[in-house]
Amino acid sequence: MRAVDLIEMKRDGKEIPAAEIKAFVDAVVHKEVPDYQAAAFLMAVYFRGMEPGELVAYTDAMLHSGDTFSLKSLRGHYKVDKHSTGGVGDKVSLTLAPMVAACGPVIPMISGRGLGHTGGTLDKLESIPGYRVGLSEEEIEGAIAKAGYVIAGQTGSLVPADKIFYALRDVTATVPSIELIAASIMSKKMSVGLDGLVLDVKVGSGAFMKTQDRAQKLADTMISIGRAMGCDVRACITSMDQPLGVAVGNANELIEAIEMLKGRAPADYAHIVMTLGTEMLAMAKKISNDDAREELERAISSGRALEQLRKNIEAQGGDPRVVDDYSLLAVARDCVQVVAPRDGYVASYLCETVGKAGCILGAGREVAGAPVDHSVGLDVLHKIGDVVKKGDPLFNVYYKDEKKCEEAQRMLLESIEISDNKPVLNDLVRDIRR
Ligand code: URA
Repeated sequence: MRAVDLIEMKRDGKEIPAAEIKAFVDAVVHKEVPDYQAAAFLMAVYFRGMEPGELVAYTDAMLHSGDTFSLKSLRGHYKVDKHSTGGVGDKVSLTLAPMVAACGPVIPMISGRGLGHTGGTLDKLESIPGYRVGLSEEEIEGAIAKAGYVIAGQTGSLVPADKIFYALRDVTATVPSIELIAASIMSKKMSVGLDGLVLDVKVGSGAFMKTQDRAQKLADTMISIGRAMGCDVRACITSMDQPLGVAVGNANELIEAIEMLKGRAPADYAHIVMTLGTEMLAMAKKISNDDAREELERAISSGRALEQLRKNIEAQGGDPRVVDDYSLLAVARDCVQVVAPRDGYVASYLCETVGKAGCILGAGREVAGAPVDHSVGLDVLHKIGDVVKKGDPLFNVYYKDEKKCEEAQRMLLESIEISDNKPVLNDLVRDIRR
């Protein structure tokens, strides 16, 4: 079928046969279809969506557009992973992977960098001197043999179709399509042959999905793709109406994540880590959620999870002494506070604006491929529902550049609503879908 005919079918809401979708994706990867036709297809999908069969065919074609890792040495082990759709202060993977690995399952985690206002696990890990995330299949297997888990980036040859489509989506206003997001995430996750996957679908002002309906639809779409591809998938829909935990940045988020493995964590962060970890472990070991939770708690209290983190850092070329000596991490020395302009309740956050303030400071990127500054960032000192008095600190801002700091302070002040009325508190975990 000619590309123009396939675009026309999608434009008119007709179902495209699986073989035609595969041929189209292959042609895009081999540059036989120009970008303008690939972009027109994406826009047609944005408006028309995809039928379940089309979506599985599209995801499968993306998955097989490049190398897949068979991770032969892990045969016989249950391979489980977690994926977050992205949030502000979301350092969950950093704590979750060593906790779950300490209980037995192996975790080949393929992670991403910051996207838009959201932070990225790889950027946070690269705060550790020497830590490497660009690993070959052999290195991934080696790191898992040493530490039970690995956190690596998508290599050049893994799912090249996603790189092409993602770059086109970014500049054609087609990123927010549920089908395109689901296929993008699932093709990358399936490329390491997972047996199980737990999704953290974020919803709220700091998430890509702003409403519960859209978050549920994204969760169910990814569950059905996983099921069709032979992978168990569960999805937790969790709130991103305010940043998770306290720290937003890179090195400061890493410190908060390590602190949880030492038994000290903000309650909201601990709740999300334990919820996702329980689902992962229960799925991998086929045990009850109560038993899974107990095992995870023991992994922390015994120090095994912290030891697993040390082993992982060493296995990925980093300096494991950072676990005990945070002065080995770059943390900006200059700090100012943003204070409350009035008395009242913390009523809401424009959570995306908090993430953007972090990016302005240098913790995220303004242009693709730019380096991030691991040392800068901010602390969010209050949760929705807290009472504050005029002059109380609301945010600590760690900065290097005065001008950027002033801009970030202005944005942070704008991002927080302080009200006379006590806000209604929403559940942090909104739903668990299987
Ligand atoms: N993360 C991805 O990997 N892909 C998307 O499309 C959105 C978030």
